[in-house]
Amino acid sequence: MSSDEPRFSYDEIADAYATAVDTAPFNALYERPAMLALLPPVAGARILDAGCGSGWYAEQLAGRGARVSGIDASERMVEYARQRLSRASYPDGAKPQVRVADLSAPLEFAASETFDGIVSPLVLHYLRDWRPTFREFGRVLKPGGWLLFSTHHPGTEAQRFATARYFEIEHVEDEWGFIGRVEFYRRPLMEIAESLADSGFMIERIVEPVPTEEFRREKPDSYHRLLRQPEFLIVLARRKDNR
Ligand SMILES: C[S@@+](CC[C@H](N)C(=O)[O-])C[C@H]1O[C@@H](n2cnc3c(N)ncnc32)[C@H](O)[C@@H]1O
Repeated sequence: MSSDEPRFSYDEIADAYATAVDTAPFNALYERPAMLALLPPVAGARILDAGCGSGWYAEQLAGRGARVSGIDASERMVEYARQRLSRASYPDGAKPQVRVADLSAPLEFAASETFDGIVSPLVLHYLRDWRPTFREFGRVLKPGGWLLFSTHHPGTEAQRFATARYFEIEHVEDEWGFIGRVEFYRRPLMEIAESLADSGFMIERIVEPVPTEEFRREKPDSYHRLLRQPEFLIVLARRKDNR
């Protein structure tokens, strides 16, 4: 990351985010239903929630019988997730694990071939280069393990930021109604596909989510916009055995 790209942290906005996200229509009625629809079976599986935020996905996974480890770069977010997951426990009394960890660095807490699956909802666009992260995901996944992530839709983003450089990765800033100023990276669709392929993953499914009927009732204007311009892209990929 160059010095003209100050490092944005969710610590600055964690309270606002954690308070609003579970009922925010773009999450609760759009991104989350589409992600869960694509989630492979998780009962009895070991799952990494990479960028767990305030822990909604980790709680969902634990509720479906998964052994969950959550990680997030924001200490404040990890506090929220720990608080939420303190309610969850497995039949043997063990509890989901949540820790502070940076996805742009090696995942030193995890041995190779630990996890059956990784979810990373709305996180990767905070990283400029996805390859080191995907290589680490490949290392900590068991052979044939899956990666399910959501991110900003590259076409919609390119339009929103009126970019003249679609094919580059660009640092951008935005203002989100319910939390304020955020910074992240936009990238072309090809970069998403290539960074997976270069890191030993095969794309299994790509989904452009369709907003739910409940979303239409709550936000009719946004609903019609989303039918023209999907906000997110969801990818289910699998670790190749012959990497
Ligand atoms: C939009 S929130 C999504 C949180 C959660 N996955 C959800 O869907 O509710 C993005 C999360 O990514 C985390 N994040 C951003 N950069 C990260 C990094 N380099 N390593 C780990 N987590 C990061 C933020 O701290 C924040 O909690």
